Amino acid sequence: MKIIMLGAPGAGKGTQAKMVAEKYHIPHISTGDIFRANIKNGTKLGMEAKEYMDKGLLVPDELTVKILLDRVAQEDCQGGYVLDGFPRTIPQAEVLDRALAELGDAIDYAVNVDVPDENIVNRMSGRRACLSCGATYHMVHIPPKKEGVCDTCGQPLVLRDDDKPETVKNRLGVYHEQTQPLIDFYEKKGVLKTVDGTQDMKDVFQAIAAILG
Ligand code: AP5
Ligand code: MG
Repeated sequence: MKIIMLGAPGAGKGTQAKMVAEKYHIPHISTGDIFRANIKNGTKLGMEAKEYMDKGLLVPDELTVKILLDRVAQEDCQGGYVLDGFPRTIPQAEVLDRALAELGDAIDYAVNVDVPDENIVNRMSGRRACLSCGATYHMVHIPPKKEGVCDTCGQPLVLRDDDKPETVKNRLGVYHEQTQPLIDFYEKKGVLKTVDGTQDMKDVFQAIAAILG
């Protein structure tokens, strides 16, 4: 099963994608996590990506597409995957489509986690992320067992550099301009499913699981 998670920054794509990956035994692939891991390790890619990410802008398609196509070509993706944060532009979606079509394949579901802008800024300022394993928490809604420490790997939790309110506003603007058109794109392909992302995260997951079967 090949699934795309669509939604604004902070809509809960990452939170839901992890649960989908676990339930259906497929890898969770987040381009944002891949970039953050590269930033943490000080790679050339990380340094290039950081310049855009800190401003709330998208990393150029040339950098992003290759990373994603290399990742989905790996052995563990044979049985499918859940993409979180990719595609984010129409050109990215077209490249993915073509790459899949060459293999006689296609995306099964594009799940749009729908959350209005008003809810987003609040969610982001409460988010704490583990840069080691990619786990995400919320200080109020989904707190870790021990404050400031990742439940999964014991590493310290941080406020992401791009979660400052000003940057979040930029990211929302970029989302509406460049990413929202993908909703139409996948609707036309007949694979779009929209869920109400303002519900409790367990209810959001139930709605998604009901779609995926
Ligand atoms: P990326 O890491 O993908 O960030 P994003 O899309 O902005 O999304 P977020 O990770 O911020 O939010 P999310 O939807 O995953 O929400 P989460 O589950 O964490 O990308 C970062 C940057 O990398 C981009 O800005 C860009 O520069 C670059 N980039 C990445 N991919 C790219 C691409 N393809 N092309 C170009 N550039 C790219 O939830 C948010 C918070 O809410 C958490 O605290 C969570 O615990 C909480 N929460 C989740 N669900 C609920 C709920 N139901 N109720 C209450 N709280 C909840
Ligand atoms: Mg995320």
